[in-house]
Amino acid sequence: RSIALIGAPIEVGTSEPGALMGPAALRTAGLVRALSELGHSVTDRGDVAPEGPAGMRGLDGVAAWTRALSRVVEGALDAGSLPLTAGGDHSLSLGSVDGVLRHCARHGRSVFVLWLDAHADFNTPATSPSGNVHGMPLAALCGEPGFPRLFAEPVPQPLSPANVHLFGLRSIDAGERALVTTRRVGITDMRTIDEFGVVAPLRRVLDRVAGQGAHLHVSLDIDFLDPSIAPGVGTTVPGGATFREAHLIMEMLHDSGLVQSLDVVELNPFLDERGRSARVLVELVASLFGRRILDRPTLPVEAA
Ligand code: ARG
Ligand code: MN
Ligand code: MN
Ligand code: MN
Repeated sequence: RSIALIGAPIEVGTSEPGALMGPAALRTAGLVRALSELGHSVTDRGDVAPEGPAGMRGLDGVAAWTRALSRVVEGALDAGSLPLTAGGDHSLSLGSVDGVLRHCARHGRSVFVLWLDAHADFNTPATSPSGNVHGMPLAALCGEPGFPRLFAEPVPQPLSPANVHLFGLRSIDAGERALVTTRRVGITDMRTIDEFGVVAPLRRVLDRVAGQGAHLHVSLDIDFLDPSIAPGVGTTVPGGATFREAHLIMEMLHDSGLVQSLDVVELNPFLDERGRSARVLVELVASLFGRRILDRPTLPVEAA
C-alpha cells in the first residue's frame, strides 16, 4: 500500500512538555524503514505546520493544528494513501479524524473509530478536571458543545458515538463517564480484557465495522500499553496491555484488511528510557502493516 507519514509535533493539548519530539523519535526508531521493508511505498510528508497561532495551550492553540492536519489527512486519502499521523499529543486526532470524516462524507461512507487508550478522552471543557485538550478529542468529534472555532467549518457528517469504540480503558473522569454512557459509546475496558482476552471483544468490533462497510480509523495512544513496556508518556496508568496483547491486536487489525487510517500518539521521548517506547511502537505499527512470524496461520496444536 501507499502510506503517507504525517508528523504532528503538537503538545499544546497537554501540560507535560516533550510530546513535540514524538515524530522525530519515531523516525529515529526506524518507522519508515520498517514499513518499506514490508513492501509498502512510504512517503514521509514531514511535519505539518500549524495554520495560525499555535503556541498557546488550550483550544485556540489546538485549533491551528486541527485545521492543518485535517487538510493534509484528507488530501492523503484523496490521493489513495493511508495517512499515518505520528504525534504529538492526542489532540492531533481532532485533525486526523476530521480529515477522515470530510473525505468519507464525500464518498458516502461511514466512519468507525477504534480508540486504543487507557483513557476515554471524552471530556468537554465543562467536565475536564485538567483543562488539557488531549483528554477531549472524542467529545469534540462527536459534536458535544463547548468547542467553538475548533474546526475550519462544521463537518458535513459528524462522528457518531455509536461508531466509537474505546479499547483498553482503565482511567475515566466522572463527567466523561456519564457522557460516554448516555451517548452509548462502545467500550472494552481492562476488566473485560482480563476476563475474555483481547480476541473476542476485538472480533466483535471488526465484524461490526465490516458489516457497515465503514472506514476504520485506529487511534493508538501509547498509554494503552503497560508502562513497564512503554514508559515514554506523560499519562502512564498501571495495568495496561502487554506486548503480546498489543501485538495480537495489531495482527488481527492487519488480517481484517479494514484499517484505512492510523494515529500513533502521546509518545514523549523526553520521558522515555533510551528509545525503548519508540521502538515498541515501531514494532507494533509494523505488525499492523503486515509483519508476521510465518506466512500462514500456524496449525492448531492438536493437528500438529
Ligand atoms: N482524563 C484526563 C484528562 O482529561 C487524562 C486524559 C489523558 N489523555 C491522553 N490523551 N493521554 O486530563
Ligand atoms: Mn477518495
Ligand atoms: Mn488518549
Ligand atoms: Mn491516554
